[in-house]
Amino acid sequence: MNDYEQNYEDFISTVSHELRTPLTSIRGFSQTMLASWDKLDDDSKKKFLKIIEEQSNRLIKLVENMLSITKLHSVNENFIYKETDIKPVINTVVSIVKSQYKDKIFDIDIKRDTPTILVDRDRFQQIMTNLIENAAKYSDENSTVYITSGFCNNCEFVSIKVTDTGLGICESDYEKIFEKFSRIDNPLTRKVQGSGLGLYITKSLTEKMGGKISVKSEGNKTTFEVQFPVCNIEVQARSKCRR
Ligand SMILES: Nc1ncnc2c1ncn2[C@@H]1O[C@H](COP(=O)(O)OP(=O)(O)O)[C@@H](O)[C@H]1O
Ligand SMILES: [Mg+2]
Repeated sequence: MNDYEQNYEDFISTVSHELRTPLTSIRGFSQTMLASWDKLDDDSKKKFLKIIEEQSNRLIKLVENMLSITKLHSVNENFIYKETDIKPVINTVVSIVKSQYKDKIFDIDIKRDTPTILVDRDRFQQIMTNLIENAAKYSDENSTVYITSGFCNNCEFVSIKVTDTGLGICESDYEKIFEKFSRIDNPLTRKVQGSGLGLYITKSLTEKMGGKISVKSEGNKTTFEVQFPVCNIEVQARSKCRR
């Protein structure tokens, strides 16, 4: 078996496993409800339905992520590059994530003179969603997620940092977390659901658009940084640019 075939087999077996876990649970709880409807009290019925709903959401997210991956590998994937102001996109993402993680505070500090960047807006929004969602998902209860912007590399890139306070990530896992289906085994990750595809997609999309992504975790603070090329118009106006 060559490397491609081996990778393909590994991929299929991981995907099958990822699909089977939620499906088994959906089937099990539906069967229990159908078989014992009259014996179950309302609280139990509600609890079982909640699990069925959560597991269905997990399957939908997984399928969406898988579709993103297939698109990443397709030659015809077309990116529509547009001059983009990062602030409204980040505000939109934060308002969506906020509705799912109500205990978290989101502190957004985007400098007023941040240059526009040249990206595919939908993909940029997907990248920011993955990072901000992870920060909310893997951080301590009632903690704050910070989103800041800056310029770097002689103002040719806009940097966006997403920082959270949680368990942190060991340096030895910095590379691993960007791999397909990889999740770090710790009490927090075990508590929340995920497929381990988000950062793989995020890194691929960022790099395809000429950007960079990195992570740094010190103590219980974790910062993911993405950098995107500024729009040409802005590069020409470099004199205006401050660090
Ligand atoms: N902000 C973060 N703080 C701590 N760990 C993180 C953070 N973001 C990601 N991780 C770790 O990296 C893993 C991979 O992330 P991701 O690819 O988004 O997958 P998922 O969120 O579906 O598990 C997560 O399972 C988690 O263990
Ligand atoms: Mg994720």
